[in-house]
Amino acid sequence: MNLNDDIQQILIKSSEIQQRVKELSAEIVKDYRDEDVIFVCILKGAVRLLVDLARNIDIPVTFDFMEVSSYKGSRSTGIVRITKDLKNPIDGKNILIVEDILDTGLTLSYIKRMLKTRNPKSVKICTLLNKKDARIVDVKLDYFGFAIPNKFVVGYGLDYKERYRNLNYIGILKESIYKRRK
Ligand code: IMP
Ligand code: MG
Repeated sequence: MNLNDDIQQILIKSSEIQQRVKELSAEIVKDYRDEDVIFVCILKGAVRLLVDLARNIDIPVTFDFMEVSSYKGSRSTGIVRITKDLKNPIDGKNILIVEDILDTGLTLSYIKRMLKTRNPKSVKICTLLNKKDARIVDVKLDYFGFAIPNKFVVGYGLDYKERYRNLNYIGILKESIYKRRK
């Protein structure tokens, strides 16, 4: 069984992702040149973005991790639950949330609101992907890599039932994969 066989179309090639992440890193370095910042990586989808941002960043940043569960299969449920919280307090700190994708906005608006109650100095958001046409609640994206159509995509950290995260590109999953019964 090969994961590539389940992909209908490659949307963003690995080399394009790497190039764009370099550009995002440069923007982030410029904006946080004189400030400390905590990258809050949302597990597990954003780990690859975190690692590739980090490759290109040479100012002092720290990492922390949070896991939320909001998504069942290929449809958003709107119910967000923290399954792993940050290790350290964030009051007075600059926070950059690193997330794989902004879809309906429900997850990130919840996370941002919740982190703000802990009195950080600032909270910004960076995602690799932005599904502009899928928004239910408005969320300000400070940095994003690519705007994509309202299709279910996998790869570069994004999963369907925990699979496909290891693909190096972003691909549209064949509908037959998520329409078929288990
Ligand atoms: P939102 O709350 O609808 O914005 O969804 C955010 C979460 O849903 C992301 O963190 C992803 O884990 C997941 N998600 C949304 N769209 C996709 C997709 O096309 N492929 C895989 N996961 C997705
Ligand atoms: Mg996710």
